Amino acid sequence: MTKITPQPGILDIELYQGGASHVAGVANVVKLSSNENPFGPSDAAKDVYRKLAFEMHRYPSSDHTSLRAAIGAVHSVDPDRVICGAGSDEIIAFLCQAYAGPGTQVIHTEHGFAMYRISAMAAGATPVEVPERERVTDVDAILAACTDKTRLVFVANPNNPTGTMVGESELARLARGLPEQAMLVIDGAYAEFVEGYDGGAGLVDANENVVMTRTFSKIYGLGALRIGWGYGPRHVVDVLNRIRGPFNVSQPALAAAEAAVKDVAWTNKCRDDNTRLRAWLAEALAEHGVPSDTSTANFILARFASQDEAEACDGFLKSEGLIVRRVAGYKLPNCLRITVGDEASCRQVAHAVGKFMEQAR
Ligand SMILES: Cc1ncc(COP(=O)(O)O)c(C=O)c1O
Repeated sequence: MTKITPQPGILDIELYQGGASHVAGVANVVKLSSNENPFGPSDAAKDVYRKLAFEMHRYPSSDHTSLRAAIGAVHSVDPDRVICGAGSDEIIAFLCQAYAGPGTQVIHTEHGFAMYRISAMAAGATPVEVPERERVTDVDAILAACTDKTRLVFVANPNNPTGTMVGESELARLARGLPEQAMLVIDGAYAEFVEGYDGGAGLVDANENVVMTRTFSKIYGLGALRIGWGYGPRHVVDVLNRIRGPFNVSQPALAAAEAAVKDVAWTNKCRDDNTRLRAWLAEALAEHGVPSDTSTANFILARFASQDEAEACDGFLKSEGLIVRRVAGYKLPNCLRITVGDEASCRQVAHAVGKFMEQAR
């Protein structure tokens, strides 16, 4: 028996299940399982990425000044309090590493994103799951779950995989009510899909205990490059920078993200298309007898009558070359999460769900 063992709790971590991208025996699949932008990134981002093929022998910027300045200008935030990471996943991990640890608790909501739990456990902390109210974040339940051991509270707004969100006043109330040693992390991975929403930046500016995380993987279409960012009070960003590796983000990712964030016209086009197609898809599914909560993100959580029905529909969609996401691991066994694709994919998935429901009922 080996005496080489990991830190306590690490072996209790269940592996993250990503969205599938293949179906055995089907050549041309439509992937609607990872909330990716069906239109891809801005052309400006692709151009700069191509050019950087000739600079691959150079180390990247370690202070990310240029990208932070662009983020600051576009999102109206202080660039000195922005930190960039290899996806927002890395910012979540930094937060847990720096502020949680053995003997402390990290709160996440019932249907919250899996990485909160994984990163908390990786840091040796205890994840605490708090119920939602009908698939919506419940601020009172979170406040009731806080103890003197609570260090971090993760709330995704909009939430994944529910697609629902809560208002700024609710999050402000949560920040105000937290114990003094605890910090609220607002995960704004899907914030850009909500017109006029700042993702929680205003709450960061108004409070010493609020941090926001953001990503380039969703509306900006750069999931492959692994780049995200965080925005927080100066004291927090200073702490996170101490544990950040100097070259945590590659230069092609930094440069493509900068071009992407500056291409506001492309971002707006993607948001508008998503809003229109999301409404169409939700209505089409509802007409086929599959309801969903009003989504504020780039996916829909389709609710079926039972786990059996959801799984059978998933199997049928796969046989038609359509890959959506099962979310039983998020305690939603009777649901399937469907990314809002381009118009053809939306029509295809709605048609296939309709065909399934006709056979099933
Ligand atoms: C709520 C939420 N937060 C964070 C992430 C992580 O995004 P990334 O690490 O690609 O920036 C995701 C990805 O699916 C997400 O859904």
